[in-house]
Amino acid sequence: MKVTVVGAGAVGASCAEYIAIKNFASEVVLLDIKEGYAEGKAMDLMQTASLNGFDTKISGSTNDYSKTANSDICVVTSGIPRKPGMTREELIGINAGIVKTVTENLVKHSPETILIIVSNPMDTMTYLAHKTTGLAKNQIIGMGGALDSARFKYRLAEALDAPISDVDGMVIGGHSDTGMVPLTRMATRNSVPVTAFISEARLEQVKEDTKVGGATLTKLLGTSAWYAPGAAVSAMVQAIACDQKKMFPCSTLLEGEYNLNDICIGVPVIIGKNGIEKIVQLELNEAEKTHMQESAEGVRNTNDLLEL
Ligand code: LAC
Repeated sequence: MKVTVVGAGAVGASCAEYIAIKNFASEVVLLDIKEGYAEGKAMDLMQTASLNGFDTKISGSTNDYSKTANSDICVVTSGIPRKPGMTREELIGINAGIVKTVTENLVKHSPETILIIVSNPMDTMTYLAHKTTGLAKNQIIGMGGALDSARFKYRLAEALDAPISDVDGMVIGGHSDTGMVPLTRMATRNSVPVTAFISEARLEQVKEDTKVGGATLTKLLGTSAWYAPGAAVSAMVQAIACDQKKMFPCSTLLEGEYNLNDICIGVPVIIGKNGIEKIVQLELNEAEKTHMQESAEGVRNTNDLLEL
């Protein structure tokens, strides 16, 4: 199993590290445009192998896509991250050009690959990858919901004063501060709806804290987060590599599901060796449906900025 991660910045390197530590991939190639940077990160990570007990071979490359040839999975993290006060949507001007070039180069060398898009604005970059690569629908996956759901569970556990392993919940919709749709109605603690333990008002606070999860970290760190994004990507890569058939909310091309068409946005999907193997249709209530349609409107506004 060969995995390429483009962008050896904090998110890409964390992702490579988590993939290696889980020891399911034979090879990870890190690629970056900055001379020597990916090689350096790869060497540093390889020097953790004997300490962390993994056999995955990590190598680095400065923009040489021939090194990525025949990758089973390619992860695109390249582009600029947001700075405090910026929205993900404001990155489109620079990141669209980068994502277009990167995905075209990747697919040239790995025509059968499954692409995971992480670069922001993620839903729009996932849509762009569909328009530019010609890969099948199941082969392009946007990473957002897995991360947003992890942040939701963190906030739920905090509100419930419960261990995170006790709570479950999902965030669908666009990967943006206003577009996320945390499914509070369906969130549970050991199968019991969380409203049995906390008030509606506290749950509303959990929802709001979840939606600005990335922005809160950007303010604290001065740049966007990397541990949870890297972990979310590595969980998705593992689901594909190990054919786990796991359910994650991911950005995927919708063709009528959720009453949406020709848009990539977060909905629950089953991930296995073929990438997106199924889109899961949830019975949303009226409020959730409205929120989802508003979220899609936001994503479409950003998609309209693409020069296709
Ligand atoms: C975040 C970035 C990865 O939410 O979008 O941290």
